[in-house]
Amino acid sequence: MQKPTLVISGRLVLKKNVLLAPLAGITDFPFRRTARMCGAELVFTEMISSNGLVFRNKKTLSMVSTLKDEQPVGVQIFGSNPEIMAEAAIICQELGATLIDINMGCPQKKIVKTGAGAALMLDPALAQGIVGQVARKVSVPVTCKIRLGWDSQSINSPSFAKRMEDAGASMITVHGRTRSQMFAGKADWEAIARVKKAVSIPVVANGDIFSAEDAKRCLHITKADGIMVGRAAMGRPWIIGVISDQIDPGKEQNIPNVRERLRIILFHLDAIREFYEQGVALKIARKHLAWYTKGMRNSAAFRDALFRTKNLDELEGLTCSFFKRMLQKRADISS
Ligand SMILES: Cc1cc2nc3c(=O)[nH]c(=O)nc-3n(C[C@H](O)[C@H](O)[C@H](O)COP(=O)(O)O)c2cc1C
Repeated sequence: MQKPTLVISGRLVLKKNVLLAPLAGITDFPFRRTARMCGAELVFTEMISSNGLVFRNKKTLSMVSTLKDEQPVGVQIFGSNPEIMAEAAIICQELGATLIDINMGCPQKKIVKTGAGAALMLDPALAQGIVGQVARKVSVPVTCKIRLGWDSQSINSPSFAKRMEDAGASMITVHGRTRSQMFAGKADWEAIARVKKAVSIPVVANGDIFSAEDAKRCLHITKADGIMVGRAAMGRPWIIGVISDQIDPGKEQNIPNVRERLRIILFHLDAIREFYEQGVALKIARKHLAWYTKGMRNSAAFRDALFRTKNLDELEGLTCSFFKRMLQKRADISS
């Protein structure tokens, strides 16, 4: 078996072909740092408004303020105006984006009603215009993240992906669901295989990959060049590194044990503390801790206490006590 690598338009050569998906409200700088510390290579920002970037919105700009410190990093932007998208892409490139990804899959009403996200799959000419404009204006690779189509009656991902390739896209990620499905049903990996056959740029398969076994089956069925993992990383930022190692024949398995998980969580908490102001940091830390401990013994009581913590020091103390009790009981976790 060959070592997995991913070459994006000859300009970006990755040693690992397992990517961290963009997840709004989750894959912020502290989370990306943590995933990278655990072995992820290419990570993506959450989707970022092209209008927010171009009109210099303070909160939006803070989302891209760290790019130079985290390489390689893909910045995902959304919008429906080709000029604004191109201008936003230039800003991201200047700030250090390794690649620009264009969101063509977001199903949310407030996004699609502006013609952005998955709505672009209903207007391939506009989508092609956006990719063309952006690719002409930046020197880093431009990639697209799409769904299978708008609904089961209008599955157009193979021809759509080809049009994006023709417009200058260097890679296509396909979430194997339609917009109408949102997150329901199962991701259709066979449909992703049809996209792979339609283009000659790399295709990354996405949807319902929760383990190395899923990853291997998905790569086998889709023949994709890589995979992207989203929800499985919530509370498990190590999953990208773990899957990368497990599908690489030369590597050992390395699922972190309780002690290692605590170390990862403390790293993540420090990163949150450094990046956000106190009040915001506490809210974000609570959310991640609830995911980190999901399914662990006595985690419901832990979560009750978690949401009553008043500051990060208190939250950190509570977390350490919880994990130390786990260690004393020699409890271990398997996934
Ligand atoms: C909470 C959440 C936020 C998401 N945010 C984004 C986003 O900002 N951009 C994007 O392209 N997809 C986003 N997605 C979709 C994921 O990137 C991914 O395509 C989807 O979850 C399927 O992959 P999975 O089964 O590995 O989770 C989001 C999904 C979730 C659950």
